[in-house]
Amino acid sequence: MKTGILRGGALFAVTFVLAACGQREVSYKADVQPILKQYCLECHVEGGDGYTKSGLLMTSHESLMKGTKFGSIIKPGDSLSSVLIMLVEGRADPSIKMPHGKASMPQDKIEVLKQWVVQGARNN
Ligand code: HEC
Repeated sequence: MKTGILRGGALFAVTFVLAACGQREVSYKADVQPILKQYCLECHVEGGDGYTKSGLLMTSHESLMKGTKFGSIIKPGDSLSSVLIMLVEGRADPSIKMPHGKASMPQDKIEVLKQWVVQGARNN
C-alpha cells in the first residue's frame, strides 16, 4: 500500500518534470527583457507616465520584481495570479490594460512572459 502511493507520487513527479521540460527554458535577459523594452519601457522608466503613476520601474530584474507602489506584480510559478500577466492578457479592468492605451501584445510574446513566470521568473 505504502509503496504504491510512493510509486504513484514518483511517477507524477517524473511526468510533471517532463511536461515542464517540454517547454524551452525562457531567459530573462535574452527573451523577456527585449519584450519589456519594446512594449513597456517607454512609460515604465524614470520620468515615464507608467512609472510616475504606478511606481513600476522595468529597467532591471530587481525593479520589476519589486513591482508597483502597491507591491509585487509577479508571483513566481503562478502566471494566473500574476498581475503582470493579467494586465497584458486584458484580464483586469480595461483602464489598466497594458501596454496602456495601445494595442495588445502579440500572443506569442505574452506566452513568453507567461512561461518565464511559470518557470520561476528568474534573473537568468
Ligand atoms: C503608454 C504608456 C505605457 C506603456 C507602454 C505601458 N504602461 Fe503600464 N502603466 C502605464 C500607466 C499610465 C499606468 C498607471 C495606470 C493607472 O493606475 O491608472 C501603468 C500601470 C501599470 C501597472 C500597475 C497597474 C496597477 O494599477 O496595479 C502594471 C503592472 C503595468 N503598468 C505593466 C505594464 C506592462 C507589463 C507593460 C508592457 C506590456 C506596460 N505596463 C506598458 C503606462 C504604460
